[in-house]
Amino acid sequence: MNRKLLRSVREYKRETILTPVFVALEVLMEVLIPLLMAKIIDVGIMDGDIGYIVKMGIILVVLAIVSLFFGAKAGQLGAIAAAGYAKNLRHDIFYKIQDFSFGNIDHFSTPSLVTRLTTDITNVQMAYMFTIRLLARAPIMIVLSWIMTLTINVPIALLLLAMVPILGGVLIFIAKKAHPHFIQVFDEYDVLNNTVQENVNAARVVKAYVRGDHEIEKFGKISTIVFKLFTKAEKIVAWNSPIMQFTIYGVVLFMVLVGGKSIINGTMLTGELTSIIVYALQILMSLMMVTFVFVMIMIAEASTDRIQEVLEEVPEMIDDENALAEVANGDIDFEHVDFSYSGEGGNLSLKDVNLHIKSGQIIGIIGGTGSAKSTLVQLIPRLYDVTGGSVKVGGVDVRKYNLKALRDQVSMVLQKNVLFTGSIYENIRWGDENASDEEVQRVCKLAQADSFVQEFPNKYDTMIVEGGNNVSGGQKQRLCIARALLKKPKILILDDSTSAVDTKTDALIRQAFREEIPDTTKIIIAQRVSSVEDADMIIVMDNGEINGIGTSEELLKTNEIYREVYESQVKGGADNE
Ligand SMILES: Nc1ncnc2c1ncn2[C@@H]1O[C@H](COP(=O)(O)OP(=O)(O)O)[C@@H](O)[C@H]1O
Ligand SMILES: [Mg+2]
Repeated sequence: MNRKLLRSVREYKRETILTPVFVALEVLMEVLIPLLMAKIIDVGIMDGDIGYIVKMGIILVVLAIVSLFFGAKAGQLGAIAAAGYAKNLRHDIFYKIQDFSFGNIDHFSTPSLVTRLTTDITNVQMAYMFTIRLLARAPIMIVLSWIMTLTINVPIALLLLAMVPILGGVLIFIAKKAHPHFIQVFDEYDVLNNTVQENVNAARVVKAYVRGDHEIEKFGKISTIVFKLFTKAEKIVAWNSPIMQFTIYGVVLFMVLVGGKSIINGTMLTGELTSIIVYALQILMSLMMVTFVFVMIMIAEASTDRIQEVLEEVPEMIDDENALAEVANGDIDFEHVDFSYSGEGGNLSLKDVNLHIKSGQIIGIIGGTGSAKSTLVQLIPRLYDVTGGSVKVGGVDVRKYNLKALRDQVSMVLQKNVLFTGSIYENIRWGDENASDEEVQRVCKLAQADSFVQEFPNKYDTMIVEGGNNVSGGQKQRLCIARALLKKPKILILDDSTSAVDTKTDALIRQAFREEIPDTTKIIIAQRVSSVEDADMIIVMDNGEINGIGTSEELLKTNEIYREVYESQVKGGADNE
């Protein structure tokens, strides 16, 4: 198993080491049992010595109980070690993901990260448990049983010795054949999980569009592929059992033949024959277990690789040692900024953007979907790094700041924003966990959220359900704005954050911004002209480039895109909701 991943065993090393120790003790007891059985038959029964039989019987029972105890203890410790290892792995991956930039997350995709945190870790956990339990058991069992056999009958012992590599080879050959199929199965699992996750996450949308049948069909297709691949793999593995059975009966037959002769010759006793048959069975069973573990490990290998990929991903953004912790003011400058989501050489989503915003200004951004409005503003809190040129905040390149300090000062309400399970207080305090109740209420008033929160029976203690589905779209947006305001940022970015808020409330929010946080630079991305009309400066985005900059009045004269949007909305009455 992968050495680097094994580092995560940490405090469960003790259990990991003790498991095989107890397994060894258990095996020792198990190996003694057939020996005593032989004695009972050969001495007790042959001589008709009841006293001897009872004495040996009691020892047998004690041995069996002790063996049971060791076995149970080994099982327990093995389970703890494996579950603990899995816990640590999960913890390590989760920690790692916290350092991921948006780019790192894009690289894996969210569902794939979820699969790695769940299915893959479970695979590794299972493989780990079987490894520490069975890999210790099999070799000890094989060696001890064989030595026992050797003391009883040399030819049979030699036969068994010859069987081990042959049978082991065949079983490993089968496992190797099945391996690629298992790998394929797990790749398909990823697709399956993606579909399930997408569907369940978007259950409401699926229902609203009555796409249930379509989704079921899609799911059915992938499900069938997984089924077929699994069947293929298992069909190969299924050979294990008949081959084993065949060998076992063959060996038993041979032993009875050879052993029978020896008994007739008087060189071996009946009880000895029964005991070496048991030893032979134990050896063969152990071999089968080894191959079983072998298959498990191979299956887990794919998972191990996938886990390691996450652990080895280099976080794109790591703070410099002498990173700046203070943002001087809310000035923003874009200088010849190029940006591509796939890094250098990729398709440019932003092309040579130049922009200068003064602290405290209100900036509106308008443009069609896909014109790169979100992409543009995401560079300011450094959610992504520029591909070319530079973005400066407070006169300093964003890459020179401590990331936390920068993001505390540049507060952004993402277009796809979410609330978390918890009370409204708790949700708003994501912005600043130490904020007082009064502060929370103050920012909610600013974001025009206080009035509707006051109408809830539990007010600020109202619980938000997962995803925030128990508040309306507009209410959710206002809570998200309040949360962003709680940071007292020098720059506040709203990415289409009032789209579900009525025009009047929208205007009240902007008025509050102007009056209450005059020094904060405010960037407002909007679809509605009315949301940006009174801004100090409006940026018109088109296809990754700035198409025009100016006040509403100036743009009406000079910018065709702006004029068209303005006329369609104002004349068309799209603004009157
Ligand atoms: N995470 C991403 N990975 C790759 N491409 C993206 C990503 N996000 C957006 N894009 C692409 O970048 C372009 C601009 O998108 P975006 O900035 O979201 O536009 P807008 O916010 O103006 O609607 C689009 O072509 C979009 O497909
Ligand atoms: Mg957008």
